[in-house]
Amino acid sequence: MDIIVLLLDMVLMTFCRLESKTAKCDGKFELSGLNHGHLEQGIKNHAIVGHSFKNFTLPKIYDCHIQCFDEKCKCQAFQISGDRCELLDEDRYSTPDEFIYTPGYAYFDMSREYIHQVRVILNSNRKCKFQRFCPARSDCNNAAHGILSCYKLQDVFNVTSDSAYPDSHCSNQCCSDSVCLNGATCTELCQDAKHKFKCSCAPRYVGKFCQKRRTSCKEQLLMDKKSSSQAYWLFDPTSNSWYETFCDFTTENGFVWTLIESFSLVNNQNFADKSFYKDYPVIENDFNWNKFRLSLNRMESIANQSSHVRATCNFNTDGLNFTDYLRAKLTDIDVMRKKFDDCRNYEYINVRGYGCHDCTAVFVQQDMWHAHVDSYHGARCQLNASGAIKDPGGEDDFGWYQTVNPIHRCSSNNNSTTQWWFGEH
Ligand SMILES: *[C@@H]1O[C@H](CO)[C@@H](O)[C@H](O)[C@H]1NC(C)=O
Ligand SMILES: *[C@@H]1O[C@H](CO)[C@@H](O)[C@H](O)[C@H]1NC(C)=O
Ligand SMILES: *[C@@H]1O[C@H](CO)[C@@H](O)[C@H](O)[C@H]1NC(C)=O
Ligand SMILES: *[C@@H]1O[C@H](CO)[C@@H](O)[C@H](O)[C@H]1NC(C)=O
Ligand SMILES: *[C@@H]1O[C@H](CO)[C@@H](O)[C@H](O)[C@H]1NC(C)=O
Ligand SMILES: *[C@@H]1O[C@H](CO)[C@@H](O)[C@H](O)[C@H]1NC(C)=O
Ligand SMILES: *[C@@H]1O[C@H](CO)[C@@H](O)[C@H](O)[C@H]1NC(C)=O
Repeated sequence: MDIIVLLLDMVLMTFCRLESKTAKCDGKFELSGLNHGHLEQGIKNHAIVGHSFKNFTLPKIYDCHIQCFDEKCKCQAFQISGDRCELLDEDRYSTPDEFIYTPGYAYFDMSREYIHQVRVILNSNRKCKFQRFCPARSDCNNAAHGILSCYKLQDVFNVTSDSAYPDSHCSNQCCSDSVCLNGATCTELCQDAKHKFKCSCAPRYVGKFCQKRRTSCKEQLLMDKKSSSQAYWLFDPTSNSWYETFCDFTTENGFVWTLIESFSLVNNQNFADKSFYKDYPVIENDFNWNKFRLSLNRMESIANQSSHVRATCNFNTDGLNFTDYLRAKLTDIDVMRKKFDDCRNYEYINVRGYGCHDCTAVFVQQDMWHAHVDSYHGARCQLNASGAIKDPGGEDDFGWYQTVNPIHRCSSNNNSTTQWWFGEH
């Protein structure tokens, strides 16, 4: 019983506070409450790590709730530990992985909703009354709308709604205090009381507030599931510097691919003797498909977060085409660490239309030889790509290119390009 009284009191108090802030006919009113069920003590021994943006010394749940309510642009939930009140910019639904067992904490969900048909007035007894919302200011005191004094809580919830007014009318001041960082653009939103603004990040940043420097393709995708495949600037913390490369999120379901090298056949002489374990950075600051390779350190750190290696042809002009393509596990072909000249396992390989799944083909990489597939000398492995060129040295596919076959898409003319990628699921 006490709990119910407390809940009622809280909602009413919040309404009263609201009234003083947004009492106008065409405004919208925000109802803030604690989610049902956890009112008394929150979710015990749980907290969200890394998302408290303001801390107070306020032992009472009620006072902490009020602080969260007042931070109407940013506060999504709050947590209490002893007499510390922490306001959170995410809740357990938006960051489930960061909501963890933390002894001594109690976590509280914050519900926020817009209501449009009720407004609140404070009568002389400091009790709240609710008045039906009126369409025009002049109607506010029109007796025809009546004053419905002292709605019961149940009735209040009957007139709530998640959305309020169209965004074209939106002006909520939530962009006014530079919530979006690092040159981001801020847009105010009025549809959903839990999403009052949106940050559109400048090219190099990610995060809800654009507070983080992007460090990998994977991170870009985690921050924005609808990210498009394109060249992105990535930050390398080891060298404290930026570089630009292509992230492919879309061509193979579930894979995130990071480009480590791309060159056109006419530029082969720059790449032919560069095995992947050599440091040979080429144009890391002005991405292009004809002459590009990351430094050894950057390739290594991407490889360390990857499970697969892939080679493609003419990705820049044709997109992904499985004719002339290879994909292998890094545990089978670890191009960063080893010399090879033998049959290796591939998840899929295709040379000039001859392809096989989970099969072997010759893979070659030596100190002075770029990684490649030797389709002429490959008869001892499972892939049978007949029609390989014999002279002078046997056909080279996906690199090295001492002997080229114009039927292979990577070497059909001087403008044909070869790409190498590291990727993960
Ligand atoms: C609030 O306190 C927590 C826990 O001590 C801390 O991790 C966090 O950085 C603090 N936040 C601010 C904005 O001071
Ligand atoms: C409010 O909703 C409750 C439960 O859904 C319902 O029983 C009650 O009649 C409603 N009250 C009004 C005024 O519509
Ligand atoms: C990658 O991992 C290897 C082996 O664990 C380690 O020696 C190397 O320092 C790592 N490189 C980078 C750039 O993280
Ligand atoms: C892939 O390349 C082959 C050989 O050039 C071509 O015949 C085929 O149409 C291409 N497939 C797609 C989906 O573009
Ligand atoms: C490879 O394929 C060609 C043509 O399909 C065939 O004549 C040849 O015997 C095959 N070689 C091997 C080793 O299977
Ligand atoms: C490719 O470029 C090389 C060097 O620039 C040139 O000698 C050769 O004739 C070109 N080949 C074709 C097919 O255009
Ligand atoms: C290669 O690219 C150059 C420059 O873009 C262009 O002039 C030429 O026609 C292209 N050659 C072929 C075979 O596509």
